[in-house]
Amino acid sequence: MIMEYTSIQEAMDKGEGKVAIRGWVFRERGSNKLKFIVLRDSTNMIQCVIDKAAVGDERFTDADKLQVEASVEVKGEMKKEPRAPTGYEVHVTEFNVVGWCDKFPIRSDQNREFLDDNRHLTLRTQRMTSILKIRSTYFQVREQFFQEKGFYRFDPPILQPSQCEGGSTLFAVKYYEGETYLSQSWQLYAEAAVYALENIYDAAPTFRAEKSKTSRHLSEFWMVETECAWKDLHAISELAKEELKHCIAKVIERHEEDLKSLGQDVEKLKKMVSAEWPTIKYRDVLRILKEKKKMDVPFGKDLRTIEEEKVMEEFDTPVVVTHYPVDVMAFYKPRDPEHPDEALCFDMLAPEGYGEIVGGSQRSMDIDDMKKRLEAEGEDASNYDWYFDLRKYGGVPHSGYGIGAERVIAWICKLDTIKDAIPFPRTMLRWKP
Ligand code: 4AD
Ligand code: MG
Repeated sequence: MIMEYTSIQEAMDKGEGKVAIRGWVFRERGSNKLKFIVLRDSTNMIQCVIDKAAVGDERFTDADKLQVEASVEVKGEMKKEPRAPTGYEVHVTEFNVVGWCDKFPIRSDQNREFLDDNRHLTLRTQRMTSILKIRSTYFQVREQFFQEKGFYRFDPPILQPSQCEGGSTLFAVKYYEGETYLSQSWQLYAEAAVYALENIYDAAPTFRAEKSKTSRHLSEFWMVETECAWKDLHAISELAKEELKHCIAKVIERHEEDLKSLGQDVEKLKKMVSAEWPTIKYRDVLRILKEKKKMDVPFGKDLRTIEEEKVMEEFDTPVVVTHYPVDVMAFYKPRDPEHPDEALCFDMLAPEGYGEIVGGSQRSMDIDDMKKRLEAEGEDASNYDWYFDLRKYGGVPHSGYGIGAERVIAWICKLDTIKDAIPFPRTMLRWKP
């Protein structure tokens, strides 16, 4: 009878009897009669015992040559074994080497540059595997959150002819005889789509030529964005809280062990999810900085990382900060009619130094004001005529926000750099392999 291969987890769920599994050697040790291999696949790992008497001399010689990360197929008898790493053991009757492995070059004590140069090999480490699983779940449960709410997924163009978030971080792309740019945000196109679909979301690659070499900036990242007709600043920022709470709760539900292995305090994370996440104003931040941190920041400047970090020392949940000064905000963030120097916008800041994870706003309906602000940035406002049309043909109040997926993943997984929240990071200094 030909046996079907199952995953290691499925084999362990079966508990006993004949099993056929395959994967990679995670650990190996042994004597000249008995070889112990811990085999891993994407689901789990299990100890396999290869006895020379059971597999014969020739096979055993192969087993003896196996190095970590060789790929093998194994058949044998599954037994409970409390002393084995995952509580089970396979007594091997047949095995086959699929891919031999040279000495695997990756060790945990190597420097960051070396590991990044060998990203194609470090991806399979336990640590990166846990992060990749959490990342996969994060995108999946977020999709589910919006589908259950009746939102539509809307896909923006990635090649865009103008900026949304400031010209200085645009990546130019040769476009036939001319030039265009890689998307900095889906937002301007999402604003067109709410007139058809009203409530929409996406997840898309996003590009910024960031000059900052920080642990929070990537040149290519995934922004997960949302845009809603009829919602105002309050409603949209509450939706951002609800979305993130949902995603984190689901990640905890499915990945408690992965989170623990990454050093995350799962109980703390759970408490944070069920707590209220406050909303304060930019002016409150200035007051907190002055009163509690002896930092005198004048009204009118965007918050710097250090200021975000200092104010977040006062909170153990994320905080929504609204009403930043209009003058330092993107052209589409509207003035608050009651305080025209403040914008109807928000950022969400994460605790523990993870900084800004969300940026959003109501969208301006004032074409003249937007034109002036674009021109002040040196833009040709006529490139945005199509965008202004959206205000002329049945314009409605609408709002939206974007979340840096990797910033959220880095925070949930307690990573010390955002580079590990994405499989192949691209930064100013790193674009290979
Ligand atoms: O605050 P930002 O620039 O907002 C926008 O792009 C809006 N157009 C979004 C919208 O309203 N639909 O970016 C949103 C989020 C930031 O809060 C941050 O989490 C993330 O995107 N982000 C980055 N993440 C990694 N690397 C970078 N270089 C990032 N730049 C922004
Ligand atoms: Mg921002």
